[in-house]
This record gives sequence, structure tokens and C-alpha cells, in this order.
Amino acid sequence: MATLTCLWTAAMEMYDQYGRHIHYLRISLTDACNLRCVYCMPEQACFRPRRALLQDDEILMLVQAAVELGVDRIRLTGGEPTIRANIVDLVRRIAQTPGVRDLSMTTNGVLLKELAAPLAEAGLSRVNISLDTLNPEKFHWITRGGHLEDVWAGIEAAEAAGLTPIKLNCVVTRGYNDEEVVDIARLTLDHPWDVRFIELMPLGSVAHFQREALVPTQETMERIVAELGPLQEVSGDNGAGPSRDYRLSGARGTLGFISSVTAPFCAECTRIRVTADGKLRLCLLRDVEIDLLTPMREGIRFEALKELIRRAVWHKPWGHGLPEGMAPKERAMSQIGG
Ligand code: 5AD
Ligand code: SF4
Repeated sequence: MATLTCLWTAAMEMYDQYGRHIHYLRISLTDACNLRCVYCMPEQACFRPRRALLQDDEILMLVQAAVELGVDRIRLTGGEPTIRANIVDLVRRIAQTPGVRDLSMTTNGVLLKELAAPLAEAGLSRVNISLDTLNPEKFHWITRGGHLEDVWAGIEAAEAAGLTPIKLNCVVTRGYNDEEVVDIARLTLDHPWDVRFIELMPLGSVAHFQREALVPTQETMERIVAELGPLQEVSGDNGAGPSRDYRLSGARGTLGFISSVTAPFCAECTRIRVTADGKLRLCLLRDVEIDLLTPMREGIRFEALKELIRRAVWHKPWGHGLPEGMAPKERAMSQIGG
């Protein structure tokens, strides 16, 4: 029996041509958002019509296919995933799919006050919440109209609902929040939160601005160390993926640094993405996509769908071109989900 189980597992694993084990799927549930962050989308963003997006049953079919191909970890993203109609039901159905070991969500937190408890009850394990500033006016400005108090209420609700460990994503943007990184890092002294500082990546129509506003991880770290003292590296795999994690002396939480631009982590990449309009995106930072929505709507057989995904994953590109100044043009971050 043990041997059988072992063989079964081996057959179900998915590798790309470079030997990377692909077992983490990020699904964008919508390209729309209830905020309009300046570094993410243009002010007059236009979103795809609903019929162009994956329906719940289509998402579940993809999840089933992915799980049978060895995916065990799923993250729901957006746009803003919590604005999708019937989100709690959808989370429940994904969480109940046998083989889904870890189901998480990246959200701006605005709607978590109401949704954290039902989402946790439906089977969501954890959330990553964006927190770029501690200043309500600046938040209003960066998000073009959002209220920071909604995010705080969301963080509180997520913690109370057990959607932990809570990760707080801070995209460091020069001239917007680079001077706040020390205050944001300080949050980890008293709270068991994992704050992650993310380098701004150039994508889509605001790439020019994003490139100019990049703050390298090195600079963010130096700022924090100068004010708050040395960082101790946190050893072991805490599931953080691309972030390098540290702890301030005596802190309850950790500080992570995601250096996608200055130190790409492509060799360790285990992930693939599905966009809200049903395209399999093999690398966040490359415009190579395989259409899954059309074949699904044309009635592709389940086994053929699996084969399509497996073959596409084999061709997952090696590395992105950001260090050489290349950037994906076809989509904004809000259309891929980070
Ligand atoms: N570069 C890096 N991170 C980004 N995010 C949005 N746009 C960018 C960008 N250009 C972040 C959000 C959120 C996650 C989905 O991606 O702040 O934390
Ligand atoms: Fe919405 Fe997130 Fe983009 Fe801000 S960064 S506009 S919260 S999708």
C-alpha cells in the first residue's frame, strides 16, 4: 500500500523543463478592485465584462485539474478577490476539493471586517493584506479614495477569525512611503505579524512610473537597521516563498523582503497563475499565456484540459527580464494578482 501511495504521488507531480516542481497555483478571481492604487492601475481603469471571466464552475474545474496534477497550495487574488459575488461559497467549494492543503488569499483588507469570519469558517487558512502606509491621508491618496480604518478593522477581524499568520504586504514606492518603512517595521515589535517589503515591479501601462519609484531592498533594510537595530535571519521554510525573512530583536513578528527586481528568485519558483479571464500565466513577469477559458467553453474533456496545463507548465519560462530593463506590457498587476 505504501508503495502504491508513493507511486501515485510521483505520477501526480508537475515539473517544468528546468526541473522546478510546480505545485502552487494563484487564481485571480476578478480584475476589478474597490481601490485604485496609483502604482497598480491607471485612474480610469476599465474592467472586463463578467461573461469574459471564469465562472465558479470553471474555477472549480481548473482547481480539480490542478490538484490532480500535484498542486496542493492555492492562493486567491484579484484585483480584489473579496468583491467577487458569492466569494464565501466559492472558497468553501475550493477548500473542500480533496488535495487542497493550503488555501490563502491576498486582499486589500477593506471588506474583511465582514468577511473574515465567514471566510475562515468556509475553509480559508490565511490572508495577506496590503498595508503601504500608516497615514490615513496618504492611504486615501495612494489608493485614490480608500479609508485606512477599514484596513485596520479588516486586520483585526482576520486575526480574530484565526486567518493567521497574518502577512502584511508593503510595496515600497519612492516618494510615497519609503520614509515610512521604519514605522511599518516597528509594528512587528508588538504584533505577531509578518510584514513583507516588496520591491515595486514594472507592469503594464504604469511601468515607467514604477521603474522610477523602485526602492531596492538593500536601501529599505539599511533604513530599518539604522533605526531599529540589527536583523536576525529567520531560518527554515516558513512557507514565505520568495521572501527573505528576519526578526528585530525581541519582536513578535517578522520582516520579510521580496526583491523581485534586484534579486530575482526565479530558480526557486514553484508557481503558476490563472488570470480572471482564464489564461494560464506561466510567469508573473512574462506575457506568455495559454488560453484555458476558450477550450473549457468549447467543452474540452477533463483529461485533455489536464494535459494542456501539464504541457504548458513544462514550457514555463526561465527567469524574467527585469534586470535587463524588460517588462511585461500586456497586463497590469490588478489583472494578474501579484
Ligand atoms: N509591484 C509589486 N507589488 C505590487 N502590488 C501591486 N502592484 C505591484 C507592483 N507593481 C502588490 C499589492 C498587493 C499584491 C497583490 O501585489 O500591493 O500586495
Ligand atoms: Fe486594488 Fe491591490 Fe491594485 Fe490597490 S494594489 S488597486 S488594492 S488590486
